[in-house]
Amino acid sequence: MAVVLETQAVSKIYKSDHTTVKAVDEVSLTVQSGEFIALVGPSGSGKTTMLAMLAALLNPSSGAIIIDGHNLAEMKESERTRFRREKIGFTFQQNNLLPFLSARENVELMLRLNNSFQKQGRERARELLTRLGLGDRLDNLPSQLSGGQQQRVAIARALIHNPNLVLADEPTANLDTERAFQVVETFAELIHEHNRAGIMVTHDLRMCHYVDKVVQMLDGRIERIIEDKAEIEALAGARLGPNLNLETPVIPVKEKSKPGKGWENGRLIQPANPSPFSIV
Ligand SMILES: Nc1ncnc2c1ncn2[C@@H]1O[C@H](COP(=O)(O)OP(=O)(O)O)[C@@H](O)[C@H]1O
Ligand SMILES: [Mg+2]
Repeated sequence: MAVVLETQAVSKIYKSDHTTVKAVDEVSLTVQSGEFIALVGPSGSGKTTMLAMLAALLNPSSGAIIIDGHNLAEMKESERTRFRREKIGFTFQQNNLLPFLSARENVELMLRLNNSFQKQGRERARELLTRLGLGDRLDNLPSQLSGGQQQRVAIARALIHNPNLVLADEPTANLDTERAFQVVETFAELIHEHNRAGIMVTHDLRMCHYVDKVVQMLDGRIERIIEDKAEIEALAGARLGPNLNLETPVIPVKEKSKPGKGWENGRLIQPANPSPFSIV
């Protein structure tokens, strides 16, 4: 196994007029090839911010991110863009499919951007979409697909170029239980088959059944790492009990902040759509 991803005390601080939020607080994490990791934790604990930084879509405030031996901070913006396109596959909560391209074309686009689209590319896109249960939807436009189907197209797009690092933010959010299991199983299979590294943010602990490690975040920090298979199984299998959903709201960490525009009753008012894209 080789180290695919290493973060060294990575932090992200969001600043606005009245508030400073330390969304990610000195996170150090190593992910090896062939490892599939679940990133869990309450809403606001910094999971999406972390993933956006790993996808080289958001610059850390401090700390280093090293992917495949390359320090993201030491690259020029153009190099980072190319690196991201070639080495990283990601799907975010908003799936960002191009509305005028079919499911298959949306997936193939990733290969075309990398100039690696040959005849096999088309076949691989078909295979991958079929594996994700979309074999009969290849030529449909996103508008002709359900939310869950669109999400699966986005997942195929994240995997098509066989990236070293696959990042997925809540990939099962719009899927029914059976589909969710199927998608995450496929995800795990592809990561293990191709010896890649994968990180999936999920609030559905049942999905931990397919992962090798669970990283639990709280207030921007890693609270706990669970590697023991039996413990992971217990977490995944405890789905029938009450209150096991970790996605319970907590008050975000605030630093040097005082109640103001962004605060109400001591809580930060979340942006309507806290998207990592809005600040890059
Ligand atoms: N673009 C942003 N601007 C300001 N604060 C943000 C932004 N995105 C996220 N935050 C804040 O950072 C913290 C972590 O958010 P996020 O990474 O979305 O957590 P999670 O994905 O675990 O719910 C939260 O307090 C959130 O309100
Ligand atoms: Mg999130």
